[in-house]
Amino acid sequence: MIVSFENILTPEELATMRRQLLEAEWARGISAGPQARQVKKNLQIPEQSPVLRDMRTIVMRALNRTPEVMSAVLPLKIIPPNFNRYTVEDSHYGKHIDSTLRPLPDGSYLRTDVSATLFLSVPDEYEGGELKITDTFGEQTVKLSAGSLITYPSGSLHEVTAVTSGERLGCYMFMQSLIRDTEKRRLLYEMDTSLRRLRSEQGEAHHELVALTGTYNNLVRMWSEC
Ligand code: NI
Repeated sequence: MIVSFENILTPEELATMRRQLLEAEWARGISAGPQARQVKKNLQIPEQSPVLRDMRTIVMRALNRTPEVMSAVLPLKIIPPNFNRYTVEDSHYGKHIDSTLRPLPDGSYLRTDVSATLFLSVPDEYEGGELKITDTFGEQTVKLSAGSLITYPSGSLHEVTAVTSGERLGCYMFMQSLIRDTEKRRLLYEMDTSLRRLRSEQGEAHHELVALTGTYNNLVRMWSEC
């Protein structure tokens, strides 16, 4: 399931992050598994960079206040977000599948169920640099507005096509979901989306809605792993 979320950052947050990203130091060739590293050609902010903490806080706050993201991912753990930059020289990330396990700062591991990209450049600022994802329904090409997020299954083949002019700034992250199975996660997301719409039309106290919300919660209880 590929889901996009428009404008999860406020204009102020976006401006702050873009300013910090333009001032940050960037490095090549970090944070990919041995196979992915062969097709990866972009820049990242090194882990010791002082700007990471602030920017990670902004991203995590944006995720936490966006119920649609929580509903689509049902996150158990999220790796601290990282940032990348594609330029004409460091232009692309060829076809790959994200590593299954990623280390967390506390020494434990996270199983990557959902990958996410937060677009931080305005689409007019660069050519190319599209995220192409092969999902159950074929290949999808994604290029979102600055401040918008896309989530997709970590097990899907994907790439960032070559930037041919300008530059593309982005934030990427990996999440372990309470619900490991993509299709179960899709069912829960569709059900919760309908429930949220019905609640806004019918009010929280509607008798059948209370019952159906209980069923939704019981499905999460039945299927969740933590
Ligand atoms: Ni990837």
